[in-house]
Amino acid sequence: MTPDARNEVLGGLGSPDEDPRAVDPVAAPAEDTEDSGLRPRTLAEFVGQGQLTEHLQIVLEAARRREQAVDHLLFAGPPGLGKTSLAGIVAAEMGVGLRITSGPVLVRAGDLAALLTDLQEGDVLFIDEIHRLHRAVEEVLYPAMEDGKLDILIGKGPTARSIRLDLPRFTLVGATTRTGLVAGPLRDRFGFVGRLDLYGPDELQAIVMRSAGILGVPIDDEGARRIAERSRGTPRIANRLLRRVRDFVEVRAEGAITSAAASAGLDVFGIDALGLDKVDRAILDVLCRRFAGRPVGLTTLAQCIGEEPDTLEDAYEPYLLQQGLLLRTARGRVPGPLAWSHLGLDPVEATLL
Ligand SMILES: Nc1ncnc2c1ncn2[C@@H]1O[C@H](COP(=O)(O)OP(=O)(O)OP(=O)(O)O)[C@@H](O)[C@H]1O
Ligand SMILES: [Mg+2]
Repeated sequence: MTPDARNEVLGGLGSPDEDPRAVDPVAAPAEDTEDSGLRPRTLAEFVGQGQLTEHLQIVLEAARRREQAVDHLLFAGPPGLGKTSLAGIVAAEMGVGLRITSGPVLVRAGDLAALLTDLQEGDVLFIDEIHRLHRAVEEVLYPAMEDGKLDILIGKGPTARSIRLDLPRFTLVGATTRTGLVAGPLRDRFGFVGRLDLYGPDELQAIVMRSAGILGVPIDDEGARRIAERSRGTPRIANRLLRRVRDFVEVRAEGAITSAAASAGLDVFGIDALGLDKVDRAILDVLCRRFAGRPVGLTTLAQCIGEEPDTLEDAYEPYLLQQGLLLRTARGRVPGPLAWSHLGLDPVEATLL
């Protein structure tokens, strides 16, 4: 079989260096296609996460030398930090095929069994949102990960019997927004758990410069810096802001992204100096104005801003926590000292409201 044929992802949607969404004509707006072009393909192209990439490099190199499949890997971290990209990188660096699926998509044990039996020796199976795997599917996964065996039940009722199939060696790469949500027995079966942290401004600046290069947008260091500073520590947001600023400079400015042009463009799109968007500001507003700094439970806070508690915890809180804009206490969420000044409020006055 040709490498290309092997590399076909689930449902034959595309090769590993293409995001499956990018080649789906229905679900793929043009920018999605563009986004997949921005994905780093090798560890060397992957900016930041120094410790994680160093560990990964060692794990991959050791497996290569022993001519073994890489141990199962779990990547955890907030959305948009590069988990899916890393799965692609592992497959590319090892020169093996990549299969992409996602926890909630695998409804029955048979769905996973079909995928597993179709793997080639050494392939990477990427399961996104692995914390959302169904129980029955998880149980098929355990012996597959541990012993490379697949137990299947043939027939029904009293004549049913179980047979055990040998699977090719494969590497399971799981991604989750929170390791805490991955069931203990599943988590323990991963040989390596890599946590991705929010990126610093220097790293984001490098990512913006790289993406601008790929998109062919003229940009200077300061322009990239302005975008980096407002990207909430997240490469996906950095790339999105870069595209919005590119729109802005093409329509309203000279076409090049300078510091002034970037700031003006980001202001137009309602991204404030800390990179907070409408939802972030709504969260701070609820904490400071509506509850006047008193502790607020996660569910209540989520209801106030019209988001799911999970989304609030995974997508919004990490950055607010990192910036000291929000604090978690045993009694609930409270605004951090910076939240008041960011909203232009005085904490003492506000608590008297
Ligand atoms: N370290 C990095 N260097 C350069 N670009 C990156 C890096 N990490 C992520 N990106 C960019 O950010 C985008 C989002 O990354 P990716 O899809 O891998 O994140 P994710 O962690 O899988 O997010 P989600 O949890 O939402 O699935 C990628 O398309 C890529 O362009
Ligand atoms: Mg992903």
